[in-house]
Amino acid sequence: MPNVVVVGTQWGDEGKGRIVDLIAERVEVVARYQGGGNAGHTIIVGGKTVILHHIHSGILREGKLSVIGNGVVVDPGVLLEEIETLEGMGFPVTERNFALSDSAHVVMPYHKEIDRGRERKSGKSKIGTTGRGIGPVYEDKAARRGIKVSQLLNPETFQRRLMEVIEDRNLYLEHVLQMEPVSADKIFQEYSRYAERLTPYIKNTTVLINEALSAGKRVLFEGAQGTLLDIDHGTYPYVTSSNASAGGASVGTGVSPDKTGIVMGVTKAYVTRVGEGPFPTEENGEQGEKLRTHGGEFGATTGRARRCGWLDAVALRYAVMVNGIAGLAVTKLDVLSGFDSIMICTAYKYRGEILKEFPLDSDVLRGCEPVYEELPGWKEDISKVKTVDDLPHNARAYLDAVEALSGVPTWIVSLGPSREDVVFKHDPLA
Ligand code: IMP
Repeated sequence: MPNVVVVGTQWGDEGKGRIVDLIAERVEVVARYQGGGNAGHTIIVGGKTVILHHIHSGILREGKLSVIGNGVVVDPGVLLEEIETLEGMGFPVTERNFALSDSAHVVMPYHKEIDRGRERKSGKSKIGTTGRGIGPVYEDKAARRGIKVSQLLNPETFQRRLMEVIEDRNLYLEHVLQMEPVSADKIFQEYSRYAERLTPYIKNTTVLINEALSAGKRVLFEGAQGTLLDIDHGTYPYVTSSNASAGGASVGTGVSPDKTGIVMGVTKAYVTRVGEGPFPTEENGEQGEKLRTHGGEFGATTGRARRCGWLDAVALRYAVMVNGIAGLAVTKLDVLSGFDSIMICTAYKYRGEILKEFPLDSDVLRGCEPVYEELPGWKEDISKVKTVDDLPHNARAYLDAVEALSGVPTWIVSLGPSREDVVFKHDPLA
């Protein structure tokens, strides 16, 4: 059985969390490779709803190792809250089931201040970030003024490093954003306490994962956000600041590309986006509202109403190419029940010309109009269906169209919110 990378094919929120939860049963290690507190998985345990930002749902399964890889950016205060919440619910987080990379970069209070201050200042040209400091922390990583988890562990190193970088960040806060500077002393005290509590989990996760692989253990690499939010392959500048696509799995965990395994793409049966940026198939009227209410499309991290629209097969084909997707998990098909007809975008029209390829220039994408294929809808409630063959004819025809247009098979279909509401057409890890 191979290892597997699970990636989102859209602008995030495709329902990766529940697919990861499902596949986690079949692997020994689940490793997250990028993103940070901007992600949010909603998990329901014993009737209680919890939103996790750093730790993935693999932690709920006994005997699995959950790893936060070097490519992730960690907000230690938020991570500790998650650990406390999980423990309060009876799920111990221990050195045996959780590891945090010593090379992951740390989100500092000034990153969050800068993120929010910039967004406020940008007005119309804002990105619509989650305000979790993600852009500024990755920016500091690239500018070589970041602070890594390992540097929190030694008080002298931490203090020296903090003093080296904070002056510049405070100048930026005060003089560019006209905001209050932050106190190095306060941060030092606060983050030293966090470091002490996180110490048991902090490991060289590159070695840890590679040793697990050498011992024949299977690893699931989990991407946060989605391909179209990838800093290189997404709708720049309306993207997140890391590589959400499958290539990020190797860099963000220190596992060579030949070992990360097959790639499964998760696509919602329609599309959503939060934040700003072009979205050709967006439905601003009644249909969009219906998708939003049927699908409960409100952000797990920010609570923002998600923008909703029809499935975009041009973008999906692009995601298949960029990630090397071998098969799809199609989520939330049940949300489409009750529509008279369902649209799939098969091409774009741009300045009178037909485009079959996803344009990488956001200004071009903004000018694209979708060319739709209209498919008949279905009225039946499909949430309790147990096999694809038992789906109404039109729902099967919709899945067939997704396969034909994306060029890859559908492996998994999800039809409702609980673990049981998932139908396998093909089990990639069998
Ligand atoms: P940032 O990652 O907070 O910097 O936000 C950059 C863009 O990515 C914004 O449009 C966010 O709404 C979007 N974004 C970040 N994380 C997620 C996510 O987990 N799901 C959906 N959109 C996200």
